[in-house]
Amino acid sequence: MEFPFDVRRILRPDSSGISVVYSREARAPSRELSMIIDNMGSASARAQRLGSIITTSVRFFSLSDNKLYFKVQDNKVLGFLKTGTKNLFYTDEHGRMKEITPLCLLDFYVHEDVQRSGFGKELYEAMLAYERTSPNKIAIDRPSPKLISFMRKHYTLSSYIPQNNNYVIYREYFTVWNI
Ligand code: COA
Repeated sequence: MEFPFDVRRILRPDSSGISVVYSREARAPSRELSMIIDNMGSASARAQRLGSIITTSVRFFSLSDNKLYFKVQDNKVLGFLKTGTKNLFYTDEHGRMKEITPLCLLDFYVHEDVQRSGFGKELYEAMLAYERTSPNKIAIDRPSPKLISFMRKHYTLSSYIPQNNNYVIYREYFTVWNI
């Protein structure tokens, strides 16, 4: 996605084109940064055919522990993902409830022109390295069919018990420490 300003100046990506933005970092975020977040958030909601937008600059900067990861190439933002920690109730196969506090994938979008080109994997890997975690430890908020396929393909994660809260927590969250 293109913007009418220098996105590199705003996002300051590293040499791989990855930029990390903390919600608590910018008390007075620039108009440009808010525009990037709002436009990418809207595009993600459209792509997922959601009734409402999950990622807006106003919500992002009012939540204390969320992070946004962007992939930047030339002067374009190719995609983003958002993480945050949540307190969740998880029901296992015996109906027993547990309380867990996983890092969650809250939103994830790669621009339509460049989907299936490996940028999603690049963003996800950058996030895992930055958070020092592994794919089995991430809970996913309402994954789309494309994301279900993405997790199966790249991380061989596919088995989970559907939860009332619509988060997907793979079985390996409990059975394997690190994969
Ligand atoms: N149909 C089915 N699977 C798809 C897909 C599609 N249209 N697009 C991506 N995938 C999955 C497949 O497993 C694919 O592997 P394949 O091409 O060999 O079948 C794999 O993702 C490709 O990996 P990669 O190129 O790294 O992913 P990406 O850059 O396309 O990013 C998404 C993955 C899900 C972020 C991206 O497709 C997207 O933004 N989709 C629309 C929004 C969305 O669904 N977001 C998830 C929110 S929960």
